[in-house]
Amino acid sequence: MSDLNSLWQPARAGDLRLPHRLAMAPMTRGRSTADGVPTALNAEYYAQRASNAIVITEGTQPSADGQGYLLTPGIHSAEQVAGWREVTDAVHAADGRVVVQLMHVGRIAHPDNTPHGRQPVAPSAVRPAGTMFTASGPTGMPAPRALSTEEVAATVDDHRRAAANAVAAGADGVEIHGANGYLIHQFLSDNANERTDRYGGSVENRIRFAVEVATAVADEIGAGRTGVRLSPGNPYNDVREDDPHTLYPTLVRALAPLDLAYLHLVHAGDEPLLDTLRSLWPGALVLNRAGADLATRAQDITDGRADIVSVGAMALANPDLVDRIRSGSPLNSADPTTFYSGGATGYTDYPTRTV
Ligand code: PHB
Repeated sequence: MSDLNSLWQPARAGDLRLPHRLAMAPMTRGRSTADGVPTALNAEYYAQRASNAIVITEGTQPSADGQGYLLTPGIHSAEQVAGWREVTDAVHAADGRVVVQLMHVGRIAHPDNTPHGRQPVAPSAVRPAGTMFTASGPTGMPAPRALSTEEVAATVDDHRRAAANAVAAGADGVEIHGANGYLIHQFLSDNANERTDRYGGSVENRIRFAVEVATAVADEIGAGRTGVRLSPGNPYNDVREDDPHTLYPTLVRALAPLDLAYLHLVHAGDEPLLDTLRSLWPGALVLNRAGADLATRAQDITDGRADIVSVGAMALANPDLVDRIRSGSPLNSADPTTFYSGGATGYTDYPTRTV
């Protein structure tokens, strides 16, 4: 096997001390309760994967309106916090570190998927193209309702409270999901944000919500426990960015002084933009180069493009991923039919290697 040594060097990401540099990326799994409460099965799944440098959890709604998919966890009620406590205790008992990802989906939502059944909320009342899975199969998403300026401020506060809840539940940190076409990315975009208040129009206005959320969360739980995830140039979930080479450098310059634990980039293939953002970011950079082999990812660390790399499907399918890679053992492949449902099947039953 090629040289993967760069993966196994210790690292720091803000307050997080990491024994190596291979992290588990956040992945929606759809196995919490209808009320968004993490279960014992969820705790088992994450604890099985505790040898990753950071276990970054699936997207977790900071408020009831932040949910859009079936059976995703939340972190805005006492029951949810108690459920997360089981998860963090289990990961810590297995010597791991766990960061809860806060994901407000905005317009990427269907009322049938939530306990409240309300119309989704978003920067503007612009319906996203595409379908999403509901109990009755793939379904178009309705047009969302635009948040008022006051409601945007309240949504910033929802993230602040959710971050406090995550830490109260024992999380080592919080990752703010600003990527992949969800609420924060909708504010950044040129097609989902038609606002005329201070959150829309110019680049400075479109990055305002992202910066306010990051500032509020860092203020609440400490910058050293706060990460931000972005996906420059990724059109996923019907997001259009007309000038990512202006937008993202402006955003990263605004985030840099916050001294956050890390910036987590979903790499959509623009290498010059990645190099620019790396040069603008003074802290730890977590890189998700989806689909790349491990040698390519290790080379990103060697070359200084990343400090930490995150992997999705590999971590999903291999509870003992770090051990398998270090021992040169073959990896299990992931079964996409059980990504979002199936109980223990395709969740906690991926085998560890037999020695
Ligand atoms: C998904 O559930 O499909 C999903 C969630 C979060 C992402 C990307 C995809 O960042």
